Amino acid sequence: MTRCVLVTGAAGFIGANFCHYWAKHHPADRLIGYDLLTYAGNPASVESLTRSGQLALIQGDIVDFDAVSAAFNQTQPDWIVNFAAESHVDRSIKDPRAFGRTNVLGTQVLMDAARELWGATPEPNKRFHHVSTDEVFGTLGPNDAPFSESTAYAPNSPYAASKAAADHFVRAYGRTYNFPYTLSNCSNNYGPYQFPEKLIPLCLLNILEGRRLPIYGDGQQVRDWLHVHDHCRAIDVILQTSPLGESFNVGGGTELANLTVIDQLCHIVDQAFLENPGLKQRFVRSPMANSVASRELIEFVRDRPGHDRRYAVNGDKLTQALGFSAQQNFAEGLTQTVHWYLGHEPWWRGVLDGSYRDWVREHYGDKAHTEPMA
Ligand code: NAD
Ligand code: DAU
Repeated sequence: MTRCVLVTGAAGFIGANFCHYWAKHHPADRLIGYDLLTYAGNPASVESLTRSGQLALIQGDIVDFDAVSAAFNQTQPDWIVNFAAESHVDRSIKDPRAFGRTNVLGTQVLMDAARELWGATPEPNKRFHHVSTDEVFGTLGPNDAPFSESTAYAPNSPYAASKAAADHFVRAYGRTYNFPYTLSNCSNNYGPYQFPEKLIPLCLLNILEGRRLPIYGDGQQVRDWLHVHDHCRAIDVILQTSPLGESFNVGGGTELANLTVIDQLCHIVDQAFLENPGLKQRFVRSPMANSVASRELIEFVRDRPGHDRRYAVNGDKLTQALGFSAQQNFAEGLTQTVHWYLGHEPWWRGVLDGSYRDWVREHYGDKAHTEPMA
């Protein structure tokens, strides 16, 4: 029988990449997207899939029990993969309430609706995978061991606290109701379709538009970088092979200071301009249009409140238990990402000028309630 996989947050960065990945690697599955289409949800990111009929995209709020239940009853998912969330730390500092609502209550609602659909004793082919973050573990000193699955939760931002709370609910539903879950805590993703509020796409598009590159504090905060395609592979492996009730850390094994990442990004963009003189005409405000190095745009700005100094992920459990390890080398992955954005200007222009919001309103109405941050 055909398996039905329902992906929440399917029009966001990782959800969209996951839908492309899934349609390619599991073409026999029925793929459903469920997404509120907030400022971060862009149907253009999955348009090729919706147009070809490989993905059915439903607009709905994960906090709305009746809407979730109706979508579940209509589509009868076997597997539910929960990416839907408010995902940006800076926004969570400005507006923490949206994060409690979507990330905590939304996760609970999804599980309650799944329990109603699957019954008290779900068939063995039913599972709910919850996508979480390494930020739940807090911050590390320079010599601390990387986060493992048994590291105590110590979230520092409202975003991290909301993700931690959701993880606790998922685990508690597993223990209390025998809810069929798996969970993953992943490090910083990069790659195609990422909304340009996050460090890499923000700085890349700022270079192309000749805007400053805002580096918080001293720029020596360390993150572990994972290509989004590796993240999709990791979730696939967990869904296919993990026993229920397990959680896994997913990392890229690439710890880098923010300033190093931005230096690499500037270098890759400068190289691209040297190799392709046409870029000077396309991006006239970019420093390289006047043969100035992109790193001249770097500007140190006020630090993020409560800024975590270092994240590092020990992914041994996933490697040893399920045989997964990240494959994408960071320098190559970042180069590919730069070229993806250079080759998809209409996609990011639509995001920057908000024209995709008009598209969303035209096709889906105006249910989404959050807007881009000024
Ligand atoms: P994103 O912000 O790009 O996308 C989030 C998606 O969720 C959007 O499509 C949005 O419309 C949708 N959404 C938001 N609120 C909703 C609601 N109430 N109902 C239905 N849909 C809603 O986020 P992302 O970067 O793709 O992250 C996806 C998941 O992965 C999140 O749970 C995040 O916490 C987690 N995560 C992200 C990273 C990362 O580096 N981006 C790393 C680890 C974990
Ligand atoms: O670790 C996983 C997490 O990674 C995910 O759970 C989050 O959803 C995702 O947003 C990401 O969180 P970060 O806060 O690490 O990502 P962000 O891109 O916002 O910032 C990366 C680092 O760069 C961080 O140390 C803050 C810094 N930064 C960020 C921005 C946007 C800057 O110095 N300047 C900036 O303008």
